Amino acid sequence: MDDLQQLVQKLQNTRHLEKEEWAALIRGRTDMLAEYVFSLARKERHQHYGHDIYIRGLIEFTNYCKNDCYYCGIRKSNAGVMRYRLGEEQILSCCSAGYALGFRTFVLQGGEDGWFTDERMIHIVGAIKSRFPDCALTLSIGERSKESYQALFQAGADRYLLRHETFNAAHYSLLHPSSLTAASRQKCLWTLKDIGYQVGAGFMVGAPGQTPEYLAEDLLFLEKLKPHMVGIGPFIPHHATPFAGEPAGTLEETLFLLGLIRLLLPKVLLPATTALGTIAPNGRELGILSGANVIMPNLSPANVRENYTLYDNKLCTGAEAAAGIQELKDRMCAIGYQIVTDRGDSRM
Ligand code: 5AD
Repeated sequence: MDDLQQLVQKLQNTRHLEKEEWAALIRGRTDMLAEYVFSLARKERHQHYGHDIYIRGLIEFTNYCKNDCYYCGIRKSNAGVMRYRLGEEQILSCCSAGYALGFRTFVLQGGEDGWFTDERMIHIVGAIKSRFPDCALTLSIGERSKESYQALFQAGADRYLLRHETFNAAHYSLLHPSSLTAASRQKCLWTLKDIGYQVGAGFMVGAPGQTPEYLAEDLLFLEKLKPHMVGIGPFIPHHATPFAGEPAGTLEETLFLLGLIRLLLPKVLLPATTALGTIAPNGRELGILSGANVIMPNLSPANVRENYTLYDNKLCTGAEAAAGIQELKDRMCAIGYQIVTDRGDSRM
């Protein structure tokens, strides 16, 4: 057994590595080491979640955004986007369609859109929770005040996704305009956790300027935050952003990180993300085989889906769409896993 395999064992035994050790693992990735990580990660996942895959119906309800993140296709200054907002009735009918397909978690995701005030969001959350009392509701609507997070939790929201994007402040400012900071992003996550949400953090793999040391800091942050969910996917350039010419993150590095995160946080809810499915035709399957246990198909109305383009060629049809759930079920069945009708709460 070589040094790096020993580090993986240490990770599995202690759920902790030093920063230098994380960086060495990430730098030293080989196919063989990755296979070793995946086999341990799968074992861990089977112990806590068996071969079940939880699904979340993703409703991208607004692509208006006041922010100008350098990597994101729906950034404010991209004038080429057809902007849209779904109304409450449209959102509810997405939920109805999803419910009939077996979804028991809905994720409302959107840009930071001032039109969706607390008052409007509280009304939407209340309506979804009263119509679908057996479903979990996840919000993914960016940075808001503590009072706002509190009011939305009170209204019935159960979970909140807010990727930390990158822990390191210098790296964060390479990816975002100066109005956005790593500190305020992280503060939001701690606040959300404090309030009682099941929280999800995460980052892009292969984001411009990312180094093994920065990734090590991300993993140390995850160890400290202990989120219930972690969303990671490869960075994929969008043609109308400052990062148009940057290379995409790789399938291999993303899968490796999924496996490592499963070993770090054994009970974490870990999606095989749309971005992973976008860079490789079997990306979703490979994600599941690396330790992921969640998939988030798109429940948005077909006519707006193409406008929620965070990056180029973002998948939104076939097994990616909620209506393609049967194809997804078949594909997961083919690798020995089954999609279940369940809220899929964290076992933490
Ligand atoms: N490539 C991959 N992921 C992206 N995101 C935004 N833009 C891109 C991109 N170009 C991710 C961010 C954000 C999430 C909703 O989508 O990490 O938090």
